[in-house]
Amino acid sequence: MSATVLVTGGAGFIGSHTCVELLDHGYDVVVVDDHSNSSPQALERVAAIAGRPVAATYEIDLRDRRALSRVFDTHAFDAVIHFAAKKAVGESVENPVEYYDTNVGGTTTLLSAMRTHDVNRLVFSSSCSIYGDAAKEPLTEQDPAGPTNPYATTKWLCEQVLADTCRHLPDMRVLALRYFNPVGAHPTGLLGEDPRGVPNNVMPYLAQIAIGRLRRLRVFGDDYPTADGTGVRDYIHVMDVAEGHRAALEHLGDANGMRTFNLGTGVGTSVLQLVAAFADACGREIPYEIVARRPGDVAALVADPSAVARAWSWATTRDLATMCRDAWRFQEQNPSGYPRLTHLESSEV
Ligand code: NAD
Ligand code: WQD
Repeated sequence: MSATVLVTGGAGFIGSHTCVELLDHGYDVVVVDDHSNSSPQALERVAAIAGRPVAATYEIDLRDRRALSRVFDTHAFDAVIHFAAKKAVGESVENPVEYYDTNVGGTTTLLSAMRTHDVNRLVFSSSCSIYGDAAKEPLTEQDPAGPTNPYATTKWLCEQVLADTCRHLPDMRVLALRYFNPVGAHPTGLLGEDPRGVPNNVMPYLAQIAIGRLRRLRVFGDDYPTADGTGVRDYIHVMDVAEGHRAALEHLGDANGMRTFNLGTGVGTSVLQLVAAFADACGREIPYEIVARRPGDVAALVADPSAVARAWSWATTRDLATMCRDAWRFQEQNPSGYPRLTHLESSEV
């Protein structure tokens, strides 16, 4: 019998790509998503790509204990992948309580449903943002955390809650994966990143410039201590992130307790290098101007991905050109993103 996995936030950017990966590899998938930051269309496209749909999808808020309990009553889960969270750094500064409630409260509600229903395997979405302004490159899992905004703090707190839970409940098996900067899209162009409103993140911003929805990139600072002065990040293809989750499911059984791994490529790319790579991928010029640093940004965040490579013999396989090409294909095929009833169009800036 195939394993059944609960994917919270399964209609989102990383969740939807992971659903395809799991369906392709014989897992049965159940999705919980309130669609607060995703379109139900994404799961229809997941089914079109995988050739079969997810077993069930529930439009509920993860914090709704009774509704979540009914989901656990209905399905016998072998494991849970927990993506559902709010992820906008700026919004988290303006409304920290909502972030603590959704991200930390959602995680404890999920944990409590898992305990009640004897489910003890969890893969948790953590983030490179927990490293904060680390003046070190590359970053290993042993480097100290120093979250600099409420969003990052929620991820760090969730890691603490999970680690402490594992210390006291030794049958728990948790893998926390610290993604660096996931970008790109499914190679079919059917699934991709579809932010609401004007994108905060650089890759969807570039894609919307290339399609004509935005005019030019504002490069946030060229006076960082990096090779060309612009911020350096470790961009990782979302399909590599998805495959990393399948690998994680396969390795959840390796040991009890909590283990934490970086998911990155180990390659740093500056904003200007990214602009050039995206221009190559789409065959269009990407206008940009240098503006002041964005408050809260750090100079460089690059993963040391060697721990996961040693543990699972697993590494990413897709390069920056592939990330840009796939992101562009999604944008070109879906110029306004997924169809939505109340789609907030990006405004020209
Ligand atoms: P996303 O917003 O596309 O997906 C999150 C999904 O969770 C959305 O479909 C949203 O509707 C759903 N959701 C949010 N709150 C919910 C709630 N209370 N109940 C039910 N569903 C809810 O984000 P993503 O980029 O796919 O990120 C997935 C996870 O990875 C998040 O936990 C995020 O913090 C983490 N992460 C993302 C990045 C990144 O750059 N994309 C980097 C590091 C970590
Ligand atoms: C990348 C680089 C910007 C936009 C965010 C979250 C982090 C994690 C990953 C969830 C930086 C520059 C950007 C623009 C620019 N997510 N930039 N002009 O900030 O590294 O990380 O996503 O966990 O928590 O903070 O990603 O794509 O916003 O920025 O110059 O219009 O692009 O300064 O150097 P970031 P990003």
